[in-house]
Amino acid sequence: MVNFRYKQFENLSESDFKAFDDRLVQADKYFREKNGPGNDFLGWRDLGVRPDGEEYARIKACAERIRANSDVLIVVGIGGSYLGARAVIEYLKTPYHNQLKDGNPEVYFLGNSFSGGELNAILSLCEGKRVSLNVISKSGTTTESAVAFRILREYMEKRYGRKEAAERTVATTDANRGALLSLAKQEGYECFVIPDDVGGRFSVLTAVGLLPAAVAGVDTDALLQGAIDQRESIMNAGLDNPCYRYAVLRNIMLSRGKTNELLVSYDPDFRFMGEWYKQLLGESEGKDKKGLFPASVTYSSDLHSLGQFVQDGSPIMFETIVRAVNPDPKSPVIPFDEANGDGLNFLAGVTMDEINEKAMLGTLLAHRDGGTDSAIIDFGGKDAYSLGELIYFFFAACAVSGYILQVNPFDQPGVEAYKKNMFALLGKPGYEEGKAELMEKIASI
Ligand code: PA5
Repeated sequence: MVNFRYKQFENLSESDFKAFDDRLVQADKYFREKNGPGNDFLGWRDLGVRPDGEEYARIKACAERIRANSDVLIVVGIGGSYLGARAVIEYLKTPYHNQLKDGNPEVYFLGNSFSGGELNAILSLCEGKRVSLNVISKSGTTTESAVAFRILREYMEKRYGRKEAAERTVATTDANRGALLSLAKQEGYECFVIPDDVGGRFSVLTAVGLLPAAVAGVDTDALLQGAIDQRESIMNAGLDNPCYRYAVLRNIMLSRGKTNELLVSYDPDFRFMGEWYKQLLGESEGKDKKGLFPASVTYSSDLHSLGQFVQDGSPIMFETIVRAVNPDPKSPVIPFDEANGDGLNFLAGVTMDEINEKAMLGTLLAHRDGGTDSAIIDFGGKDAYSLGELIYFFFAACAVSGYILQVNPFDQPGVEAYKKNMFALLGKPGYEEGKAELMEKIASI
């Protein structure tokens, strides 16, 4: 169950929500009837039937095979083709999952930058270990991923020979087109599909996220069930459901000149969920010169860096705190110390979890006094089912918030601009025309 609390906001009344009623009614209609802008990309909405039974059974079988014959899975992908998988694995298994020695293969992520240093470091971690690859790209042509994959293909073929390298490589891509699909067919890689009607940032509950998560030992059945149940709860609720309330609140804040939303977690394991959320909301709403700028922070760490700004700086933001309701049963207890040299005996017998909760409440009130309000999204906690619920909550909130904002939440025209310049500078055939002009501009930098 995901809940949304905002009553602690200053100067926020029901009439502020009412002012968005017409837009919300329209947004809800678009979402339910799948007839708004970008409706071709609403495939994720009904994920109860997706991935279909046969594809999902294959994903699980493939994950079992990799778990049996590999010590390491390298996932090659960028943006929507890796953030969700990494977020799910790090939140549920901690960012230290590769060092835990809990019987699950290590999972590394490459192809999400042009860093040769990172690629070298991960290959050196693979020495003496059995390796498999999962290359993920919807378009099949994304340069960061394609460059890394070319180097990794050579590495795998040198290590295993072409046939076994192919058996150890899985491609997740478009069903019908793209360079990756052609290569996969030529080499005989096992393939999984990113459905046409699911954009990259909405793809974590397809093979894109499910295969790496299953290899890492995540209970993907529970993850999907959480999402399915969250969908039911939104679809069966009225317009005042918590997900829509969050979507409207975001738009109220923007209309009041709050241009930034800070997604706050008090759990460092949530860090990549924040990265995933930034792509989801940023690419969906940041267009037509509109949208909240999504940022994410981990408190209390970031209170010691950005806290000063949030408390006292330009009043440009509000906070959305994501809070796990279920306490961590293994949270360490502060011991009693006879000498009490550090003066901490007032905390003896208290868990770190309990301290964290007080830090959250204290910060919320302090930030409010400083003019930065905080809403709270409560969800179950660190289990796959609750995370599935939270993921779907954000998906639906993003779609409805984007429709209220009156943008197409499912396209990303602005992502292409840097690529054109980069291709021209790198001499990619077909991009020659802009090069001279770019070189002139670069000379003046
Ligand atoms: O949302 C987007 O379109 C991008 O961020 C993509 O997720 C990213 O560029 C990866 O694209 P692809 O899966 O086609 O390689």
